[in-house]
Amino acid sequence: MANGFSFHKVRAVITGASSGLGAEFARQLAPGAELLVLVARRAEALEEVRRGLPAGTAQVLCVVADLGTEAGRQGLLAELESRGLRPNLLINNAGLGDYGPVATAPVEKLQLMLEVNVTALTLLTRALLPKLERGSGILNVSSLASTLPMPELAVYAATKAYVTSFSEALELELAPRGILVSCVCPGPTPTNFSQTARRADGTDTNRDGQALLRIPPAQVVAEALAGLAAGRPCVYPGLGVKVAARLFRLMPRALLRRFLRRRVGQGSM
Ligand SMILES: NC(=O)c1ccc[n+]([C@@H]2O[C@H](COP(=O)([O-])OP(=O)(O)OC[C@H]3O[C@@H](n4cnc5c(N)ncnc54)[C@H](OP(=O)(O)O)[C@@H]3O)[C@@H](O)[C@H]2O)c1
Repeated sequence: MANGFSFHKVRAVITGASSGLGAEFARQLAPGAELLVLVARRAEALEEVRRGLPAGTAQVLCVVADLGTEAGRQGLLAELESRGLRPNLLINNAGLGDYGPVATAPVEKLQLMLEVNVTALTLLTRALLPKLERGSGILNVSSLASTLPMPELAVYAATKAYVTSFSEALELELAPRGILVSCVCPGPTPTNFSQTARRADGTDTNRDGQALLRIPPAQVVAEALAGLAAGRPCVYPGLGVKVAARLFRLMPRALLRRFLRRRVGQGSM
């Protein structure tokens, strides 16, 4: 069993690398990487991330793929296969949220969220797993939201509960093969996430208390990578998030529900 992941000459696939945490993963992995495969839908944004990487970064490949579709996922896998690329790190980071009640949620947005946050993460992992060598790693981006039932962010929180549970089980399954699995559960982080999660009609969720937990993307990513390097199955970046996650775990569920019930209907338009 490997103790931790080594980033020396890493060959990483990073999904959702066109902005936010994904772009930051690319920036922090670039020094010393042998290969970075940057995946997202927006070609120009991916190119911009690539251009911003430090000079001397080894091979960088931008793959434009909509991971919300089977065709997009297969396209990415075919691209890796046809170029003979053998990644040793998969960062399942692409994801999106939806602010507001389930009853009025745009159905296409819910479908896309399930496809990207759950299906793509699971099926890309499944497709690459047989080819991963001993010492490889999988880093799944979950959320602090995975620890709570979250009204007006319900489907998103549930997808992230899936990500955390899946990651922890996979970590146990793959330990005998020497493959590291880690999941990072960030709290609110300034990226494009909120903009995407807000609905077209302006519907928002109750975001009271987020300021206490917010840390910059660079810190989230640094702690996530350090966690994988140390072989930690689950990482809660930032002190506020660590304390909150512990509190939510220890709090009786009935008390937690009482606290969450008060937040319903407090989001703005
Ligand atoms: N920011 C937060 O507060 C926060 C907190 C906890 C967890 N997270 C998680 O962190 C991860 C990264 O999000 P972020 O905060 O960095 O937000 P972001 O800036 O909106 O980045 C999301 C990334 O996912 C990509 N993506 C979305 N849908 C896609 C699709 N159908 N196919 C391929 N790529 C897709 C986007 O690229 P394109 O639009 O170019 O496709 C973008 O690169 C997500 O899993 C999110 O749930 C974020």
